[in-house]
Amino acid sequence: MCLRLIPTLSRAPLRDEVTDGEALHLGWFTNFTPGDWSSPFSVEGSHWDGNFYVDMAQAMERACFDYIMLEDTLMVSEAYRGTAEATLKYALLAPKHDPLPLAALIAAATTHLGVVSTMSTMAYPPFMLARLASTIDHISGGRFGWNIVTSGEDSAAQNFGMEALPPREMRYEMAEEYVELVCRLFDSWEPDAVVMDRERGIYADYRKVHPIHFAGKFFKCRGPLNTVRSPQETAGLRAGRRLATRPRLRRESLRLHRCDGQRHRRHETVS
Ligand SMILES: Cc1cc2nc3c(=O)[nH]c(=O)nc-3n(C[C@H](O)[C@H](O)[C@H](O)COP(=O)(O)O)c2cc1C
Repeated sequence: MCLRLIPTLSRAPLRDEVTDGEALHLGWFTNFTPGDWSSPFSVEGSHWDGNFYVDMAQAMERACFDYIMLEDTLMVSEAYRGTAEATLKYALLAPKHDPLPLAALIAAATTHLGVVSTMSTMAYPPFMLARLASTIDHISGGRFGWNIVTSGEDSAAQNFGMEALPPREMRYEMAEEYVELVCRLFDSWEPDAVVMDRERGIYADYRKVHPIHFAGKFFKCRGPLNTVRSPQETAGLRAGRRLATRPRLRRESLRLHRCDGQRHRRHETVS
């Protein structure tokens, strides 16, 4: 699997992008929250079955959007006055359900919209994240993207056995190594490893599936990944500028591949 690192803040001038007809991308950033539950015309917010978001993604697809991105955080905030009262009373970013199953649901109900989900490098062991990304990339037929975040709240860290988040610079150093490891796992299956040779009874050629023996400063992983190489070859990645421009990840960003449905979009008509 290759990667697309999108430093979100480093944009070329919009005018040129529009004129060359290639570079303007349409995305929608949302999250799996109650939505509008209290205004006069609302119908008690979006239900937790995900259908509201599926419907929204299908409408976005008709409107030629490139991708939907699902935000995430991992705590019920007590940032205001030290209690969860305001957070829960006003449903401010909590409750919030997990974006990954929703991404799979959306992927299954759409055909060419990019589906980008947030996963924090603090929360998942790298192997699990690579496996999930690869699995949803298959379910979506190569349309999955990973919004890379490191988490920014101590209360989230406390849900994972830590007292506090590591200092910011260390978080980014860890994330850099993490993404490098995930990339190595994506690549642990050669593109032609699955042979499905019925006559010889061979599903995959073991010589083309490689342990990675990754031993970094923070993470260790033997590999290989136990999922088949992603159809996309490249998981779409969104990272903050600070992370995307770190030396080891700049190298990964050269292995770009689209996750945004752009290739299909040009042939689409709006209905
Ligand atoms: C488009 C976009 C999406 C983001 N999504 C999330 C998110 O879902 N969860 C989260 O904790 N932080 C999110 N962030 C915050 C980033 O993880 C990061 O803290 C921020 O981009 C600042 O990092 P930088 O200084 O490296 O650019 C997002 C930021 C951007 C620009």
